[in-house]
Amino acid sequence: MDKSRIRRILLGLAIGALIAGGFIAGQILSDKNGNGISITARDFGGPFTLVNQDGETVTDKNYEGQWRMLYFGFTFCPAICPTELQKMATALEELGEAGEQITPIFISVDPERDTPAVMKQYVALFHPRLVGLTGTVEQVEAVKKSYKIFATKVKDETMSDYTVDHSSFIYLLSPDNDLVRIFRTQDPVEEIVHVTSKALQAMP
Ligand code: NI
Repeated sequence: MDKSRIRRILLGLAIGALIAGGFIAGQILSDKNGNGISITARDFGGPFTLVNQDGETVTDKNYEGQWRMLYFGFTFCPAICPTELQKMATALEELGEAGEQITPIFISVDPERDTPAVMKQYVALFHPRLVGLTGTVEQVEAVKKSYKIFATKVKDETMSDYTVDHSSFIYLLSPDNDLVRIFRTQDPVEEIVHVTSKALQAMP
């Protein structure tokens, strides 16, 4: 065998080992969490300073060590936000006592219209424990950036006011700040209840 052929074989073996290693690592990840999706919070989240629906300044420290369901949106949203917040509230109710460990949080991406007073009225429509966070434009920009949230104002000539195009996901965060699951708009309440209940059992 010439040297280039040996080199090719060695390269092939190395690639094979990498693929096998990745497969095993993937399996361990899915075994540990039971649902195959695990993204550490390393790239997601971080410190923030915002204002709650009672006008009090809060930071990420206020929610440290708690299970959290997090949703970013805006109160003027015609359809998606109310639907997703309702799903979150229903999931919490269906989880019963276990659901009481979870702090549901709605963070506004429209701080100019979503004042604390507006947020207070809005969150009360969905769940008695739903926290509504807003802040200055700068504070909201900062939290959007660290939580990788896309949200941008959209206006066309037919509109007297603006709307906000935004990403719509429900994030389940563990007390250790692990991003356990990202629920999409097409995930039904049953899926949220099932995954969350398993996660709570695995890490009470
Ligand atoms: Ni929305």
